[in-house]
This record gives sequence, structure tokens and C-alpha cells, in this order.
Amino acid sequence: MSGYVLAIDQGTTSSRAIVFDDGFRIVGVGQEEFPQHFPRSGWVEHDPEDIWRSVVATVRTALADASLSASDIAAIGITNQRETALIWDRDTGKPIHNAIVWQDRRTADICRKLVEDGAEPEITAKTGLIVDPYFSGTKIAWMLDNVEGARAKAEAGKLAFGTVDSFLLWRLTGGRVHATDTTNACRTMLFDIEANAWDEELLKLLNIPRALLPEVKDCDNEFGVTEASLFGAAIPVCGIAGDQHAATLGQACFAPGMLKSTYGTGCFAVLNTGDTRVPSSNRLLTTIAYRLSGKTAFALEGSIFIAGAAVQWLRDGLGVVERAERSGPMAAAADEAQDVYMVPAFTGLGAPWWDAEARGAIYGLTRNTGPNEIARAALEAVCFQTADLLSAMKKDWTGASDTILRVDGGMVASDWTMQRLADLLDAPVDRPVVLETTALGAAWVAGQKAGVWPDMAGFSERWRLERRFEPRMDAVTRGRKLEGWADAVGRTLSR
Ligand code: G3P
Repeated sequence: MSGYVLAIDQGTTSSRAIVFDDGFRIVGVGQEEFPQHFPRSGWVEHDPEDIWRSVVATVRTALADASLSASDIAAIGITNQRETALIWDRDTGKPIHNAIVWQDRRTADICRKLVEDGAEPEITAKTGLIVDPYFSGTKIAWMLDNVEGARAKAEAGKLAFGTVDSFLLWRLTGGRVHATDTTNACRTMLFDIEANAWDEELLKLLNIPRALLPEVKDCDNEFGVTEASLFGAAIPVCGIAGDQHAATLGQACFAPGMLKSTYGTGCFAVLNTGDTRVPSSNRLLTTIAYRLSGKTAFALEGSIFIAGAAVQWLRDGLGVVERAERSGPMAAAADEAQDVYMVPAFTGLGAPWWDAEARGAIYGLTRNTGPNEIARAALEAVCFQTADLLSAMKKDWTGASDTILRVDGGMVASDWTMQRLADLLDAPVDRPVVLETTALGAAWVAGQKAGVWPDMAGFSERWRLERRFEPRMDAVTRGRKLEGWADAVGRTLSR
């Protein structure tokens, strides 16, 4: 069998398909951005048909780009934006509402009520999560309560819920398979991560009928085969993992104490804690890093909602950056004497603050402040937030004490940003040769399941460092900046 593996990486702002050969080289790529919908302040939606169309189109493009046909592909691995919730009709396959995206804050009131009613300790004990609109559970409840007739249909077993992986799997298999993997399930606030199962009590608490839910499988699994008519031949889907989990795998963070941070739309730092399910006293998430062949590896995760999206806003919203790649050189040219801080709470703040009502702010503006200082403030905000996460991880678990951060995602191409990150973390930052770690991780899960790619040990031996950024900033400057940041966040919080 060939060693070609195709990864579908369905992200927040674009869908991508990448074909890798058995040397983990990229031989074909397809990518498409799709529209974001912001019906109200703090609401974010995607049209599920845009997601589906863009996935089909990018798979076809990637195959053509690689000059391969579907029958050359040994397996597909799916990775996806997590927590985004979809509900569709089992008979027609049609979604009943737009997908409610992970960034969406419309269920802040439901979450507040859960906390007021004292439900958070039980939810955290079972799921490892904090009560926040970020997770899928309250989004499902919202759709059932706001789409006419949805609740009755759900109770009658006529509707299906899924995160994006599950929706894609359903469509790819022609409606034959309704399943998800454990890394996506564990982000719903309905899943007991110890028992590795949906939790009846939590379903009751959120008033969600069991009949809606997909079957949960390990990341490496024979999930089903694609409809032959889609790509010209049936391709087996042998792996699924939420994007941050796939990136953890793609970065070969297989040992406890290894940490990766991915800078996409948001930024997500995942620290492998192995067999140990580490509870957080510092508002991080306890989650599943991955589950392979019946064995769960746990993780501590810090989730920041806005990273690359801040640069996108500089470009598309404010119009001060022509192209995203320009933000690094602009930051490098900024006036060091100006302390400008941006708190990019466009959709609230994630870890460790968890403030759904906070909104973005910029502090320290003077008549001398220009686009360069604003660009630097946006990039530094991402670094400061990562520093907050790392310090919370160190407080939560001694295994994090002298970890090295492995980074990936679009923003890490900027040397300036990576150097500033190392400086503000006061820790080394490792950038690998392959930056497509999310897609690579999904491809690896599928490739090894299909028997055409190496196992964990073989894969991790082949992880390659491109460049290490060592901290260079003096302690006084770092201290001043971190203090300025803490002050800016303090002023932005809604409570
Ligand atoms: O939890 C949300 C995350 O999975 C989205 O990732 O890469 O689209 O920012 P990304």
C-alpha cells in the first residue's frame, strides 16, 4: 500500500487539505478561506455548507496538486476547530442552524446560571473544564431552545449533534457514520474524561437528549470510508483529533512534561501530563491530550481566544497592516520607549481569566503612537498571554518546571514574535522544521493506524528542530512589561 496520507484540517477561518508522503513531506495542498458571520456582538457563526463545500474542494485540490488520485491515498486523518457545535437532521443531512463557533459568547447567561446554581465543581470534576460559553454543551442547549421544533425532534432521535469532525465524517461517509473522537468529545462539557464516556448527569443538567450524541471512539480508529463518488474512490478515515490535540501529536509531545503552543486564530498551549489527570488550581483546563489504542494521555491546557485573529483585525478591521507578515517587521521598528498594551478580548478572555463579558482595549496611547506600536502591542499580547499560561502551568504541576515550548501555527514564522515570546516567557522556544504540525499530527494518527507510517517512537525520532530562540531580555525590562500587561488586563476585566 502507498504511504500517502491525506489530512483534512478544518480550521476556524479556513479549510485545508494536505497530502503527505511517507517521509512526512507535503506533496499536495488545498486551502480555502470561508466567511465568518457575526450576527450580534460576541456571536460567531459559520454556514455548515461553506465548511462542507470548502472541505470537498480542498481535498480535490490537494489531490490534483499532488498529481494523485483517491486510490493512491492510504488513509484520511481529520482534524478540526474544536467546540464548534452543529446539529443536523438525520434524514436530510441538513443542519438546523448555522454552526455556533467556539468563540461565540451567546450562552454566557446559561453559564452564569450554572455557576450560580453551584454546578461548576461537578462539571469540572468530571470534564476537567471550566463553565464557559466556549464549550459545546451550552451551544447545543441554545439551539434546542431557540430553533423551532428542535427539542421535540431531538428527543425523537431525529437530529444529530456533532463537532465539525463528526459533521464531516457524517457527510464524507454518506450519512452512514455518526461518531467523534475522544478529544472532541472532551470539549463538550458533557463527557467524563476519566470514564471516557458521555455523562448522564451532565446531559440532564443541560437538558440535552442522549439520542443527539455521536458514538465516541479513540483517535486512531477505522471510522468509515468516504463515498466513492466524492473523490473518485473510497478512502478510509483512520484518524480524528481536535486541532490542538493533533498539533500535540504532530509536535511529538508524547512524554509527560512536553509542551506545545499553536498560534492560529487563537493560541492553545497543551502540556502532556501522561497518566496523571492534573486538576488545575489556576483556571487551566484538565483535558485529554489524545487517546490511542485504548490509552488516554491527559493534559493541562491554556486556551487564548485571540492570537492570529488580532493580526487579522489589524489588517482587515483597522487597516494598519497591509499583509499579516508585515506585523513582525513593524513591531521590530516600534519605539521601545512607548509602553502600549493591547488586550485582545474581542470575544472575552480565556485562560486563566475566563471572562466572557470582557471586550478588547488598548492602553498607553500617546500622540507618538502609530501603526508600528499598535502592531507590536498585538504581537506582544499573544506573548504575554502565553506567559500567563506557562506560569499557571508551573504553579499547577511540578512536571512543567523546566519545559521547553514547541511552537507552531501561522504566527511562528515571525522571528521577531518568537524572540519576544522567549524573552517574555524567560524560557526557550523551539520552532520545528515542519510547521504544519496540526495536519501532520492528524495524518500521523491515520497513517500509523493504516499501517503505512511509523509508530510513536519512530515518529518522534523524526521530529526536527529548525531554530531555538533563547531568552535575551533583561529581567528588569521583562518585569516592567509583565507588570504593565497585568495592569492592562486588570483594567479590562468586566468584574
Ligand atoms: O478550541 C478552538 C480551536 O480548536 C481553534 O483552533 O486553529 O482554528 O484557532 P484554530
